[in-house]
Amino acid sequence: MAKTSKCGLVRAAAKARQQAVAPYSKFKVGAALVTKSGEIVTGANVESASYGLTCCAERVALFNALTAGKRNFLAVAVVARAPGGPMPCGACRQLLAEYAPHARVWVADSRALYTVREFSVRELLPAAFIEVPKESV
Ligand code: THU
Repeated sequence: MAKTSKCGLVRAAAKARQQAVAPYSKFKVGAALVTKSGEIVTGANVESASYGLTCCAERVALFNALTAGKRNFLAVAVVARAPGGPMPCGACRQLLAEYAPHARVWVADSRALYTVREFSVRELLPAAFIEVPKESV
């Protein structure tokens, strides 16, 4: 990966976490994606009074990146105050499978940023639905 280390990306996610808008759960999450060319795009969770409209940090980061024209993600780091780091929810796993299928997923507890657990998107969501079949009528 061009210049961006695992620690660097985890630190970027920890910094993004400071911008989380989580007045209901108080659970602040930050995420950072890195592209093949070394660009980093971050996001944090944003909650809604309706609860269901809440968007996770991973998806905010992914939507930020995609709508800035970024593709070819090498890794995503996710940081929250959670033992072992926060595991991406099912919805985020789906979006990662579609738009960052080859990314490494690094999760860390905000209190122990140098203890990083690593996963592949495929192991988080095996046999993913990633394409609408052409002949679906
Ligand atoms: N959340 C994330 O942002 N990412 C995760 O990986 C897990 C959950 C957020 C959603 C919500 O704002 C809060 O954490 C509690 O579920």
